[in-house]
Amino acid sequence: MNQNYFYVTTPIYYVNDKPHIGHAYTTILADVLARYYRSLNVPTFFLTGTDEHGQKVQKAADARRMDPQAHCDETVVRFQELWRKLGITNDKFIRTTDAAHKAVVQEVLQDLYDRGEIYKAEYTGWYCVGDERFFTEKDLVDGKCPECGREVTRIVESNYFFRMSKYQQWLIDYIETHPDFIQPSFRANETLGFLRKELSDLCISRPKSRLSWGIELPFDRDYVCYVWFDALLNYVSAVGYRRDQAMFEKWWPASYHLIGKDILTTHSVYWPTMLKAMNLPLPRTIFAHGWWLTGNTKMSKSLGNVVNPMEMVEKYGVDAFRYFLLAEMAPGQDASFTEEAFIARYNSDLANDLGNLLSRVLKMTLRHLQGVIPPAGPLQEEDRELLQTVANAVDAMEQALHAMKCDQGLAAVLNAVRAGNRYLEKTAPWTLAKRGDTERLQTVLHTAAEALRQIAILLLPVMPGKMTALGEALGFDPEEFAAQRIAELRQSGDFISGRVMRDTDGLFPRIQTEEKMQKSAAPVPAASPKTAPKTVLPGVADLITIDDFFKTQLRTAEILAAEKIDGADKLLKLKIRMGQEERQLVAGIARYYAPEAVIGKHIVVVANLKPAKIRGIESQGMLLAAKIGQELKLITVDGEIASGASVG
Ligand code: MSP
Repeated sequence: MNQNYFYVTTPIYYVNDKPHIGHAYTTILADVLARYYRSLNVPTFFLTGTDEHGQKVQKAADARRMDPQAHCDETVVRFQELWRKLGITNDKFIRTTDAAHKAVVQEVLQDLYDRGEIYKAEYTGWYCVGDERFFTEKDLVDGKCPECGREVTRIVESNYFFRMSKYQQWLIDYIETHPDFIQPSFRANETLGFLRKELSDLCISRPKSRLSWGIELPFDRDYVCYVWFDALLNYVSAVGYRRDQAMFEKWWPASYHLIGKDILTTHSVYWPTMLKAMNLPLPRTIFAHGWWLTGNTKMSKSLGNVVNPMEMVEKYGVDAFRYFLLAEMAPGQDASFTEEAFIARYNSDLANDLGNLLSRVLKMTLRHLQGVIPPAGPLQEEDRELLQTVANAVDAMEQALHAMKCDQGLAAVLNAVRAGNRYLEKTAPWTLAKRGDTERLQTVLHTAAEALRQIAILLLPVMPGKMTALGEALGFDPEEFAAQRIAELRQSGDFISGRVMRDTDGLFPRIQTEEKMQKSAAPVPAASPKTAPKTVLPGVADLITIDDFFKTQLRTAEILAAEKIDGADKLLKLKIRMGQEERQLVAGIARYYAPEAVIGKHIVVVANLKPAKIRGIESQGMLLAAKIGQELKLITVDGEIASGASVG
């Protein structure tokens, strides 16, 4: 990828809807990418905005007996306010009702019309109001819209058409020879599947008699422009197309158009053919992310299960919300949003792991060194190891961003956080203090504080507020810390000695859930009468003999590789080593562990379980894990022992 500049866009959102988690996700993802590229010193332009023309908006305005422009002016504020609350750092907010955008759209229309790329013809077909798209008889599914399943209306009228069909073969060739163009690659295949059928020309006008809310066609005042044709052009009009050549050349072609999977065809077929007709290069990558579901159910207004980002932010804070969305969704696949999953991840990653690391370093430094971060003495193997794990996380994050795998980048950073906690357990600075080994104590606290500094800089783009606070806790001025760049993380030097740590009120206070509070006080369930054995220990049902127990062969194993399974968001496929033997396991742990977070762990496996096929993949055993409520932890081995050792 051309690393000289980075231009990222979100879809422009229809103004008539309340912003929901889907809108928030794409915009936060774009924001995090923009902040990362800026942090890597890459000139960056981040565009978002609103789609304000078309039937949906006109209908919404009519229902409120308002002029459509006044309706848009009022509702656009919801998006602008939410973006402010979410810390979005877009360089421009485009509205398709901006005079500058409208003028560019009209020039493009006139130019394409003059060059014969747009022609007039009589059209008969089926129209879906919801999707604002025409369909032919054979496109319909059970007589309904193939996209949304709603009723369609038969329409006969004269309209203007863009000669999209003539670019069909060119587009197929382009997609086939540019693997980065549509991502993830299965979306490229989906587009190619669509292009295998005959492509029709695109109806780009609406007669004013039916819809007046749109940009007027410059060559026929009885028509307005089709809303998608107008909307897609925002990506070029916003960066100076036909107005500011220098600006346009600086930013076009875009690096990434981020979109949801439901608007793939408009972006991967309409838009490239429009650009081709305009003689413009195509964006480098159109990236279609999956959907946020509530549990396993599609979010919909009628089900009343749409997550309102404003509410989540008010309840849990903007940084935790941004972190959750980015860490939880593997871009490209669907993800599930539940408040329980949110709390579980918050408590485990932020309150426990990151919060703990900071609070340990802070407490020890305040108690033993008057809060002043000391210089390091000679480094030992374990110090170097921790700093190396953090350096690996810097690399992993950068690679993950280029591959649009932010969830994996964050998992690598959290891995470094956990390594920091293990480092403190191993080096035990509290014992060093007791023993009076000040030199080693200073080196350990210096190393842990330096690891924290780098981790905070790596996480700044995702949690700008909380990580600036972490920087403050490490003795930095907040403005100075917020301006720290990932590009400088690889420089060697001492950046922290002499800084005075400041006590923070707990960066990520643990969220207490009602379920948890009840559980800790809950009585242990009694055995059911059917299975109650003769001997009953308090809290234990169904006693077994030692022979029963030894029927299960438990053995230690090392995880060599792990990957997600397409279409199964709870499962990971693991390759494990058990002594001399390698096996494959399918484990339901994907909600709790990212694949790279489990590699290298020494776990406990039921070795004599009959192999079973899970989602068509053979699982040769079962791993052990502890689960309570929404939390799950792998059972791992304390210390070093060869894999394949028997457990019992
Ligand atoms: N106005 C068009 C886009 C024009 S771009 C030139 C539009 N707007 S929208 O407001 O309806 O949708 C905006 C985005 O929200 C789409 O990318 C859509 O995929 C996304 N989402 C809507 N519901 C979603 C989820 N539940 N989860 C994730 N994203 C979802 O389409």
